[in-house]
Amino acid sequence: MSSTQNLDDNSSQFTTIDLERPLQLLADWVQEAKDLGLSEPDAMNLATVDGNGNPHNRMVLMRHINEREIGFFTNLESNKAAEIFATQRTSSTLWWPQLGRQARIEGTAAEMPRDMVEEYFQSRPRNSKIAAWASRQSKELASMDSLHQEFRQYEEKFSEKTVPTPTFWGGFTILVDKIEYWNGKPFRLHERVVLTKGEKSWSKDRIYP
Ligand SMILES: Cc1cc2nc3c(=O)[nH]c(=O)nc-3n(C[C@H](O)[C@H](O)[C@H](O)COP(=O)(O)O)c2cc1C
Repeated sequence: MSSTQNLDDNSSQFTTIDLERPLQLLADWVQEAKDLGLSEPDAMNLATVDGNGNPHNRMVLMRHINEREIGFFTNLESNKAAEIFATQRTSSTLWWPQLGRQARIEGTAAEMPRDMVEEYFQSRPRNSKIAAWASRQSKELASMDSLHQEFRQYEEKFSEKTVPTPTFWGGFTILVDKIEYWNGKPFRLHERVVLTKGEKSWSKDRIYP
């Protein structure tokens, strides 16, 4: 703790939050992290729940955000996809250590419209597209050699051609119903605000750190 830190700094990031746009601050934080050149500014932990109520989590990239939802891309036959198809509920965390910020998001996931998937897939580097064809994500793999061999087979199959979007590859949007913004402060007197979606409008509550 630096001696220059003191309790007189009671400035707040959160007084200007517009409840008509609960995800705006999230978009701003991601943009700020991008502008600063931070690594993986949109990486988020994604927790899903399987049909037996067991939670599972992993990192994904938050590649879509608008006023009511976030989204990511993945293999539609992966474990995470099966868990989403089973229970729909998700919980996510993004963390920007250099900025001392965290955002936690809860919501209901749904398969992303194919036009959005198509646009994103086609924007990816050619090798990533071919890798998507070669990966049966979450299924057992005999060896890395097999994976490389499958990659080469698809490379050959699509040589000189546009790599089409696999039908088993897609995305999910998450309709957000709760978001917590966390801003690190001196003396561990961190600032937390939770926005919750009600029947007609969003509410905002400050909570203890
Ligand atoms: C920083 C980071 C970003 C990742 N982004 C994605 C992603 O956007 N989509 C994806 O399917 N997997 C992504 N992964 C891999 C996942 O964490 C995970 O290993 C994979 O999706 C399989 O998860 P599942 O078996 O639970 O479905 C990422 C991993 C890391 C470390």
